[in-house]
Amino acid sequence: MQYQSQAVAKYYFIAAIGLFVGQILFGTILGLQYVIGDFLFPEIPFNVARMVHTNLLIVWLLFGFMGAAYYMVPEESETELHSTKLALILFWVFLVAGVLTILGYLMVPYATLAKITGNDLLPTMGREFLEQPTITKIGIVVVALGFLYNISMTVLKGRKTVISMVLLLGLWGLAIFFLFSFYNPENLILDKIFWWWVVHLWVEGVWELILGSLLAFVLIKTTGVDREIIEKWLYVIIAMTLITGIIGTGHHYYWIGAPEYWQWWGSIFSALEPIPFFMMVIFAFNMVNRRRREHPNKPAMLWALGTAVMAFLGAGVWGFLHTLSPVNYYTHGTQITAAHGHMAFYGAYVMVVLAIISYAMPLIRGRAAANSVNAQVVEMWSFWLMTVSMVFITLFLTGAGILQVWLQRLGDAPMSFMEVQDKIAIFYWMREIAGVIFLIGLILYIVSFFIGGEERKVAA
Ligand code: HEM
Ligand code: HEM
Ligand SMILES: [Fe+2]
Repeated sequence: MQYQSQAVAKYYFIAAIGLFVGQILFGTILGLQYVIGDFLFPEIPFNVARMVHTNLLIVWLLFGFMGAAYYMVPEESETELHSTKLALILFWVFLVAGVLTILGYLMVPYATLAKITGNDLLPTMGREFLEQPTITKIGIVVVALGFLYNISMTVLKGRKTVISMVLLLGLWGLAIFFLFSFYNPENLILDKIFWWWVVHLWVEGVWELILGSLLAFVLIKTTGVDREIIEKWLYVIIAMTLITGIIGTGHHYYWIGAPEYWQWWGSIFSALEPIPFFMMVIFAFNMVNRRRREHPNKPAMLWALGTAVMAFLGAGVWGFLHTLSPVNYYTHGTQITAAHGHMAFYGAYVMVVLAIISYAMPLIRGRAAANSVNAQVVEMWSFWLMTVSMVFITLFLTGAGILQVWLQRLGDAPMSFMEVQDKIAIFYWMREIAGVIFLIGLILYIVSFFIGGEERKVAA
């Protein structure tokens, strides 16, 4: 660690991992509720558990992105953070607001939560991923503004690199598109159109810039390849992301009452969205093959390569699978969607955050360059357990989805939704088993932090 202020990232990383555990615990509860309908009812209804699962995911990824920025930007800018104190204050504000919101979900009925938080003054609640009470949303904006101010001031006073510019663009975009969560038109079509401006333009737009930047940073550090080469890749990747991803939003406008031309625009542009993900695979493997040093932190490199591969599979391949409108006509809102959502989020955003944590944490904790061999072995086990079980979760949900489409939407005598759910329960059981293995992988990941032994140093 070259700058003292980078150490503030540690708080963000620890909070991220803590909330990640919560997310997965609720994931396994949800998975069980899929097959044992009244499990934990009425204490934790399915809709509440689902909201906790998805909101925790978003919140811990945001902690991860912020921690990554606090770690990377001083090093890229070659200067201390503008204000370490502000970063610490905002950390506690965000953590307390986040935890209170989750407790709110769990302790009072959602309608009551809406009432006591003044949702009727400025109604923003009740939409997937954007369920947070309006006051929490305002809190998120305040934290985001303080964070962006801090990071932007640091970049402005120091060296300006492509990596930090792309990161800044992504982070500013993230905050700006979140503002659409305050726009909640009565007209359902408009509501959906702008809801996707948050959700789609995040994961298939500005977050992809953050992804590219984090990946490039970890690759520069672990491979020692020239910055110029990495920067050229980054330019092309982010250009392709924006060219395909912005108009690609149209793949969500097929069936919501938007004009018909979106069938074409959505299909064509979103079909090109896998290109930047594919480029990230070529990029990552190219850099590792051309590496000029053997960095002792093996798990960090494994996470970086894993991110590129799994993001391509989850977003690129599983996204393409259902993105053309004649296909989406059948698969819309089925388990195919859930399969894709899981692998894409895990492969792109979960893994890249774990990659930067894996690279930065040993340095923040004052280790020479990397953890002991034993700690690294356990971390690599956790990589494989989580990644392989996510592949299985995706495959089981894809199996469930194919049968669901077949039984419920094709053929002469389509069955009802619930009849079909009973028929495909075996897939949900298998998903649950894979989910428990995922949880074990995550626990091992945490265990790896507590394994001591002789630290690995840089081998010349
Ligand atoms: C890392 C990037 C991505 C993430 C995290 C992601 C995540 C998700 C999630 C969570 C949903 C479900 C949203 C909902 O209705 O609640 C979704 C839907 C969808 N995604 Fe992605 N996605 C990514 C990239 C892509 C790409 C590159 C494509 C196309 C090639 C794609 C195509 C689709 C389509 C067509 C739907 C709508 C499914 C339906 O009609 O039910 N996604 N995505
Ligand atoms: C890092 C790992 C995980 C990520 C990134 C993740 C992400 C998500 C996302 C984005 C959704 C909303 C999907 C959509 O609307 O299409 C979701 C829903 C869900 N997740 Fe996860 N999840 C993870 C792990 C798990 C695990 C381990 C389980 C269970 C064993 C699980 C079970 C579920 C269930 C049952 C739903 C609700 C699906 C529905 O409404 O039909 N998740 N998850
Ligand atoms: Fe999308």
